[in-house]
Amino acid sequence: CGIVGYVGKRDSQNILIEGLKKLEYRGYDSAGLAVFTSDGLQITKSMGRLVNLENVLADAPLAGFIGIGHTRWATHGKPSDVNSHPHTDNSKKFSVVHNGIIENYMSLKEELAASGHVFVSETDTEVISHLIASLYEGDIVKAVQKAITRMTGAFALGVLTEYEPDKLVAVRFFSPLIIGVGEGENFIGSDIPAILDYTRNVYILNDGEMAVLTKDGVELMTLEGNFISRELFHVDWDIVTAEKAGFDHFMLKEIYEQPKAYRDTMGSRIDPSGKRIVMNELKMTDEYIHRIQQIHIVACGTAYHAGMVGKSIIEKLARIPVETDVASEYRYRSPIITPNTLVVVVSQSGETADTLAALREAKRCGARVVAITNVVGSSVAREADDVIVTWAGPEIAVASTKAYTSQLIAFYLFGLYLAQTLGTQDEAYIADVVTELKLLPDKVEQILQHAEIIKEWAEQISTHDNLFFIGRGIDYAVVLEGSLKLKEISYIHSEAYPSGELKHGTLALIEEGIPVIALATQPELFEKTVSNIKEVKARGAYVFGIHTLGETELVKAVDQVLEIPQTIPLLSPALSVVPLQLLAYYASLARGNDVDKPRNLAKSVTVE
Ligand code: G6P
Repeated sequence: CGIVGYVGKRDSQNILIEGLKKLEYRGYDSAGLAVFTSDGLQITKSMGRLVNLENVLADAPLAGFIGIGHTRWATHGKPSDVNSHPHTDNSKKFSVVHNGIIENYMSLKEELAASGHVFVSETDTEVISHLIASLYEGDIVKAVQKAITRMTGAFALGVLTEYEPDKLVAVRFFSPLIIGVGEGENFIGSDIPAILDYTRNVYILNDGEMAVLTKDGVELMTLEGNFISRELFHVDWDIVTAEKAGFDHFMLKEIYEQPKAYRDTMGSRIDPSGKRIVMNELKMTDEYIHRIQQIHIVACGTAYHAGMVGKSIIEKLARIPVETDVASEYRYRSPIITPNTLVVVVSQSGETADTLAALREAKRCGARVVAITNVVGSSVAREADDVIVTWAGPEIAVASTKAYTSQLIAFYLFGLYLAQTLGTQDEAYIADVVTELKLLPDKVEQILQHAEIIKEWAEQISTHDNLFFIGRGIDYAVVLEGSLKLKEISYIHSEAYPSGELKHGTLALIEEGIPVIALATQPELFEKTVSNIKEVKARGAYVFGIHTLGETELVKAVDQVLEIPQTIPLLSPALSVVPLQLLAYYASLARGNDVDKPRNLAKSVTVE
C-alpha cells in the first residue's frame, strides 16, 4: 500500500492525488482521500485504479489544506469501496491511512465491538481508527501513542482528527514512512517518489518513531514521546530511481525485499509460543485434513517451481502423496480427482489463465482448492475454497523473486500445519522447524552481503551461450528455478538437471570451459553430488559450487565456491535460490538487457 499526507497552504486534493500516482506501483486495487474541509473531515474513496477516485473527485472535490491519501494493495478484506482507506470511527471525527498488517486486530475489534463500536469494513485499519477514537482525551498525539501500545504487527500510519485540524500525525513501525519538509507546507509519504515533486528535503523515520506535522513545522519523536533531532536528508535522485528506492532495477529491489517478505508472510501465522503454526484463514476442518488422500499442486512458471519444492515439503512433513503439475497440462491429462483430493494452486498474480482454468477443472471434479497467492481478491483467490496470502507486496519485475520465496514460506507454514493437525511429526520437531524458519530472513541478509561474489560469477558466465545447473533432491527443484530465471532475463540458454541424471545423456554436451552451477545443500546426498561434480570436471566443465557452510569436500571439487548459511535441509531452498536470483540479475545486466522487462514475456499471462 502507499500513504501520502499533506498539511500546508495549498489545496490538498491535487497534491495527494499526484503523490498517490507516484505510489501506484505499490498497489492499486483501490484508493481514497480524507480532507479537512469546511464541512469537517470528509472521506472519498473508490475501488479500482486511481483514475476512478479522480473521476469521483472531479464531480465532488474535497477542498481543504490538510489531508491524507492511500492507494491500497489488499491484505485484510477484499478490494472494495468500503474496505478502501482512509478509515474512520463511528463519530467520523478521526481518519486513518495505514500500510502494513495489524496482527492482533481481531481481538482489538472484539474488544471495541463489546464497548459499542460498530464496524463497516473487514479491514484491520478500521480497527485503528476506532481504537484511537476510544483513547482520545483531547490530545491526538497521546491517543495515537496509547493506541500503538495495544497494536502488534508492522505498520505505518497517517492520522487526522477534526478536533485538531492543524495536525497530521505519522507513525513508522516496521513499514516505511518518510516526511517531506517544505516551506509553509509539509508532507508524508510511504516512499520518496510521493513527495519529490514538492520538496527534496526529507526526514527518514526509523522504526518506532513518529512525527507531528503542522504547516509550519515538523516534530519528530519516539513512540514514547521523547523528542528527536535529525538532519534533513537531501534527495538528489530522479523520480525513476526513487521509485526503485535507489536500486537500479525493481528486480534487485525485490530480491533485497525478501527478508521482509519472509517476515510478513510468517507474521501472525507463527504462534507467539514460537512452536506452532496458526492458520486462521483456512476454512478446512481438521476432520477434512484427516480425509485428504492426495494433493495436487498446480501452477505455471516460477510458481510451478515453488510447487515442486512444496511437494517435498508436504510429503516430508505431512506424509501425504503430492503430484505437481504445470497448469496448462493439468486439465488435459484427465487428472484423477476424488473428493479426498486437495488441489493447491499457486499464483503470484492470481490471474494466470491456465492456473484459473485448472482451478475450475479441479472444483468441477469435486476437489477442495487452496490458493497460495500474492493478490487478495484476485480471481484465483475469489474462486478457491481457502486462500493463503503471501505477503510479498506488489512485485513489479517480470522475473519473479520475492513472490517465489514467499510461496516457499507459505508451503512451509501449510506443510507444518498439516503435520501438526495429522500428528505426522512430533511437537519438538515442529518447534525446531519453526525456530529455524524464523531465522531465515537474517540468513538471507547474510547471503545478500556476498552479492559481489555472484556478480563476478555472472560476469564470467555472461560470455557463454550455454550452461548447466545441477542439484539433487530438493536442490533440483531450486536449480530449475535458477535456470528459468537466467533464461528469462539474460537469454543465456541453460538446462537444470538432477545431478545423477547427467550421465544418462546430457553429459555429451559438457565440453571444455562450459559453466556448471552445482547446488549442494543436502548432507545426505552430499557425497553423491561431489561425485557428479567430478564427472563434469573430468570433461572440462568449469564448476561454480554453492553449498552449505562447512562442507569441505565440495570446496576441493569445484573451481569457485559460495558458502551459504546452514539451516534444516528442508528449509534450504529459501536460502539457496537467492544467489541464483542474483546470478540471473547480474548476468542480464552484464549483457545489457532490460532486466525488469525481458523480451517476449509478461508479468501476468491472462490467455491460455
Ligand atoms: C508469467 C510470468 C512468470 C510467472 C508465471 C505465473 O509467465 O512471466 O514469471 O511465474 O506467469 O504467474 P503467476 O502470477 O500465476 O504466479
